[in-house]
Amino acid sequence: MRQFDLVVRGGTLATAAEVFEADIGVRDGRIAAIGLDLPAGTEEVSAKGMIVTPGGLDPHCHIEELSADGGVHEESFASGSAAALAGGTTAFICFLPQWKGHSLAASAPGYERRALQSRADYSFHQIITDPTPEVLEREVPALAARGVQSLKVFLTYDPLRLTDAEFLRVLATAKRLGLMVTVHCENFDAIGWRIEALLAAGQTDPIAHAWARPPVVEREATYRAIALAELVEQPIQVFHVSCEAAAAEIARAQARGVKVWGETCPQYLTLSHADLLKPDFEGAKFVCSPALREAGENERVWKRIQDGTLGVVSSDHCGFSFATAKRAPGAGGYGQGGATARADGTPAFNAIPNGVPGIETRLPVLFSEGVSKGRIDLPTFVRLSSANAASLFGLGGRKGTLAPGADADLVLWDPDAERTIHNGALHHAIDYTPWEGFAVKGWPSITIRRGEVAVRDGEVLAAPGSGRFLARG
Ligand code: URP
Ligand code: ZN
Ligand code: ZN
Repeated sequence: MRQFDLVVRGGTLATAAEVFEADIGVRDGRIAAIGLDLPAGTEEVSAKGMIVTPGGLDPHCHIEELSADGGVHEESFASGSAAALAGGTTAFICFLPQWKGHSLAASAPGYERRALQSRADYSFHQIITDPTPEVLEREVPALAARGVQSLKVFLTYDPLRLTDAEFLRVLATAKRLGLMVTVHCENFDAIGWRIEALLAAGQTDPIAHAWARPPVVEREATYRAIALAELVEQPIQVFHVSCEAAAAEIARAQARGVKVWGETCPQYLTLSHADLLKPDFEGAKFVCSPALREAGENERVWKRIQDGTLGVVSSDHCGFSFATAKRAPGAGGYGQGGATARADGTPAFNAIPNGVPGIETRLPVLFSEGVSKGRIDLPTFVRLSSANAASLFGLGGRKGTLAPGADADLVLWDPDAERTIHNGALHHAIDYTPWEGFAVKGWPSITIRRGEVAVRDGEVLAAPGSGRFLARG
């Protein structure tokens, strides 16, 4: 019997700390050895000319989420995880919803059963929209014991947002149980006030979404979330930071020793108001919250990656098709201020479902714009794409690393491959990509999940249901 089930031979390995040449020997789904000239495995994969990184871990994506009003993200676990794997992401963390006025148990029934269809490994953050004593004292501890070790709160969106008093109760519960709290930071009342004024002035186009949510509404809520977390002495992860103003609040808090971390997404590194201004309602394809910013802001967010303020790049993948956005105001609950329709039947800016699809393009865009264009080095790419999220969310040593004992989640990147992103070639179930026509250099040729070739040259080989739930500690 051979020593290894699989040997990935002759690649340039990149970890969060270093870059070096070696083979990787895999046994029983885990990395068993790293070294030069390893003995032959039962299966051999050549990594000559390739860069081998740990499989991506996307710690923020919305898959098949169900809202209380019957809205559902169109991405299924089978399609979303195929897209994840094809883009070099071998594990993701999505969300267990809580419907306002419901217990956790009564919200989104069957959600965990749907997740069993995943082809990639997966875990959950628990969204808290209604922190009753029953939820905080009984249900959250029970979930934590099952390995759901992080909570998500929204400071905006109707009806998902928490008041400051509710947020404080969630923070205190997380502290007691040793959980991470992730936060969507925008000021609900300020946005509502802007929406009213814009609608009264007859502004209904998608670009008004950004005018309703200028950087200051994100900065204020980021500051407030940090201040409240500081009061409770509870670590937080600020989700989807879109601008320098919010990043600067995080940097200031980090400098005084507060345990706050920041995440951004490819959309805030590459897209802008110019996209929201596209004619024929095309701008709706770029409605996400926080909103895309003015030209120039992308580079300021890159600077906050380079100085270490923002340590994670997630997709914040959302499964709303353009066809749905055109006719279904407010789908999924990520909207604010009512379902206002325009003369042609398309929704006003405040009723377009929020969020863009990006689980498959996250890493190719980050690799190309980051590594290929020289903004970041390979270890930084690994930290942003998997390693930092693994440590923050209780998967350190298992995901996001190339080391004996870790899951054999590997991506073989062809650093010279040049592609143009087209929705037709992607594996998600959504009818568009915001990166249509975007040119990238560097492509994930082979994705290996727990020692099995899950994707080879764009063909997804992993079957639905082959992903595993990741209980975190
Ligand atoms: O626009 C966004 N980001 N939609 C998804 C929900 C969220 O805020 O994370
Ligand atoms: Zn959010
Ligand atoms: Zn999100």
